[in-house]
Amino acid sequence: MSFPKDFLWGAASAAAQVEGGWDADGKGESIWDTMVREGNHVAHGETPAVACDHYHRFREDVALMKEMGLKSYRFSISWPRVLPEGTGQVNTAGLQFYIDLCDALLEAGIQPLATLYHWDLPTALYNQGGWANPESPRWFEEYAEVVSQALGDRVYAWMTFNEPQVFVGLGHVLGIHAPFRHDDSPTLCTMTKHILLAHGRAVSVLRRNCPCALVGMAPTGDCWLPEDHTPEAEEQAYQKSVALPKNFEFSNAWWGDPIFLGRPPADAENAVGEHMYTLTEEEWASVSQKLDFYGFNCYQATAEYGPPDGYGSYAYQGSPKTAIGWNITPEVLYYSCKFWHRRYGLPVLITENGYAGLDFVMLDGHVHDPQRTDFMHRYLLQVQRAIEEGIPVLGYTYWSFTDNFEWDSGYSSRFGLVYVDYRDQKRTIKDSGYWYRDVIASNGANL
Ligand code: BGC
Repeated sequence: MSFPKDFLWGAASAAAQVEGGWDADGKGESIWDTMVREGNHVAHGETPAVACDHYHRFREDVALMKEMGLKSYRFSISWPRVLPEGTGQVNTAGLQFYIDLCDALLEAGIQPLATLYHWDLPTALYNQGGWANPESPRWFEEYAEVVSQALGDRVYAWMTFNEPQVFVGLGHVLGIHAPFRHDDSPTLCTMTKHILLAHGRAVSVLRRNCPCALVGMAPTGDCWLPEDHTPEAEEQAYQKSVALPKNFEFSNAWWGDPIFLGRPPADAENAVGEHMYTLTEEEWASVSQKLDFYGFNCYQATAEYGPPDGYGSYAYQGSPKTAIGWNITPEVLYYSCKFWHRRYGLPVLITENGYAGLDFVMLDGHVHDPQRTDFMHRYLLQVQRAIEEGIPVLGYTYWSFTDNFEWDSGYSSRFGLVYVDYRDQKRTIKDSGYWYRDVIASNGANL
């Protein structure tokens, strides 16, 4: 058995990383707009204000997706574009943008996969305490209501949150992402509770307004590789991948166990002690409503780090890495599919996987990126391996469709299948984009 015939070959983006149009047509500000402008948080002082100008150029982008033969496009909705103050007054022009985007995708034969929250919290809500405010689940419910009523029958699959691990871990613990904070454990527990409740409320809204759509989320987290090919080593890798480490907010279990298993992770009390949140029975039922798939973002296997000047696991002198230093560990896609299906019992959807390069337009006018093609080839073979073992994999979503604003590192790392010259917004499909087109056309048979 190879790739199923309706396999979702896709590519992804996120509003704050591609749209630009930061104040166009009544859009409100997100924490990434406001805080990046005010502080020295991003390399070279770069901002998401214009990014790839996708807000104004989405038709050109959809035409490129069509040329590549994509079956799905994962994008996120900017909450402050739709609700400038986070709640209350709807910005109809902002909402119309997503309606038009979905219509253009559907016309091109591409399934829209929509993420409600890919980190661009409305600044107006942050100023009221953001996710630490007990009202935040209700805010999110209102936002989900507005968006799903407008887009409902157009979206094939919804994701509530993208990587709570990262927007909490990097945004509220390490202070690298907006809102650039270092919150304590009690605050993290409170925020977790609100995010879980927000997820549950949004799922109820999506089920009501979009009965035909799939509903899931797009978390990330550790995936350890077995040290050898014995069943014991695989079991050990699985157990480590589902455990609750000291930096619990980055783990799968912290978020996945409540949502997919309806209970707090084992060891939660050990990790956070008396600060552990509590939920009523009714709240647990809402948080753990059955979803249709386990989406996950996956780039590299979790590594054990040695001394500061040594090598972590998988690394050795001159070992293969992406341009931002991430290890190239293709088997992580096989083991993620296997482990997450085993853990949560749902079909899996690879919502992100990709390679950051130092791409540029070459003398012949093309972008030759054989490293990315090889990366994708190796990782996709591992997806195929999982499918051949009978694991239900719904699709593979390459991160990212175009180069874009890579959060705190700005624009220098390029993940895209399409190169963007930020001086004039000219797009160039990279060699890997054409290679991916051929893979899609053969439904993976040419891998
Ligand atoms: C995020 C993306 C990000 C990518 C590469 C994921 O953590 O969802 O927004 O650009 O990784 O860093």
